[in-house]
Amino acid sequence: RNIFGMKAVEYLRLEEVSFPESVVKAYPGPSYGIEGVRRLLRIHDRPLVGTIIKPKVGLPTEMHAEVAYRAWVGGVDIVKDDENLTDQWFNRFEDRVVRTLEMRDRAEEETGERKMYMPNVTAPYPEMVRRAEFVREQGGEYIMIDVVIAGFSAVQAMRREFQDMVIHAHRAMHGAITRPPFHGIKMSVLALIYRMLGVDQLHVGTAVGKMAEGKEEVLSNVRSLTMDLYGLKKTFPVASGGLHPGLVPALLDIFGRDVIIQAGGGIHGHPDGTEKGATAMRQALDAALQGIPLEEYASEHEELRKALEKWGTRSPGS
Ligand code: 3PG
Ligand code: 3PG
Ligand code: MG
Repeated sequence: RNIFGMKAVEYLRLEEVSFPESVVKAYPGPSYGIEGVRRLLRIHDRPLVGTIIKPKVGLPTEMHAEVAYRAWVGGVDIVKDDENLTDQWFNRFEDRVVRTLEMRDRAEEETGERKMYMPNVTAPYPEMVRRAEFVREQGGEYIMIDVVIAGFSAVQAMRREFQDMVIHAHRAMHGAITRPPFHGIKMSVLALIYRMLGVDQLHVGTAVGKMAEGKEEVLSNVRSLTMDLYGLKKTFPVASGGLHPGLVPALLDIFGRDVIIQAGGGIHGHPDGTEKGATAMRQALDAALQGIPLEEYASEHEELRKALEKWGTRSPGS
C-alpha cells in the first residue's frame, strides 16, 4: 500500500511487524544461515573476521587481488568488495573474480584455513544472474548483493536461483528509509524481511563504529535475524563501518560470538599495511575472547600495539 506517500498522512513510521506462520513459510529464509556459514568456514567458536578491499573504487584488478591476498594471509576469513564496486573499467568483474579467487586458493594453501571471497554481483537482474553463475563456475561459494538497490523481488529470485551459494547482503541506501525519526521503516523490520527472502548475512550497524545506530537499534536488528521464526534459519549479523582492532572487545560485548566483524580502513590503514592490519584484528579478537585487556595483550603483540597507537579504543567521530 502506498500509505507512506498519502496527503492525509503527515508522518508514518513502521516500527515493528510480525507475520503469521503461513506468510513466513511462504518464504525460504537463508540457505546456509549462521550454522551453514560456520560449517563452510570450519569456524565454530569465534566471530568471523572480514575486510572490504580499500580504496573502495580505483584499484586496478591486480592490486585488488593482491590486497585481498595480504588480508587473507594476515588472518581475515572473508574478503568482500565494496558496495559501489561492481564492473568498472579499471576493475572488470570477471577478471577480478578470476584473479581474486586464484589468490584465495593460494592463501588457503599457505595458511591451511578456509578463505572466502564475496564478489559484489549487483546489476540489473539478468546480468546479476550471469555474474553469479560466473562466480559459481569459477569455484566461488559466495555472492554479495546490495539488497536495497536490487529490490525485494530480485533478492527473492536470486535466492531461488542460487540455493547452493551464500548470499551476503549489503544494505547501502537503507538510511534514506530507516533513519528519519518520524517517517519510514525501521531497520529491524527490513532485517526481518531480508531474512525471510533468504539472505545469509546482513549488515546491521555497529553501535561503536561510524554508523549512526546505537546499541538498542543494533540489538533489535540482530533479534530480527536470530529470533525463532517458524523454523527459518538464522541470518548472520555483520558489523561493518568504521571498525578497527580497538573496538573488538566492545563488539563482542554487544553481539556475542555470532557476528562477522568487518573492517576496511581499520585494517588497510594499519601503519605497516594490510597484512599486519589483519593480524592486529585477529590478535584483538584472541585477546577479547580470553578476556585479556587489549593493552596488556599488545605488549607482546606488535601488530596490535601499533594499531592501538594509531586508533586507540575510541569510536570514530567521538
Ligand atoms: C559502508 O559501506 O560504509 C558500511 O559498511 C555501511 O554499511 P552498512 O550501513 O550496511 O553497515
Ligand atoms: C563496508 O562496505 O562494509 C565498508 O565500506 C566498511 O568500511 P570501513 O571499515 O572502512 O568503514
Ligand atoms: Mg562499504
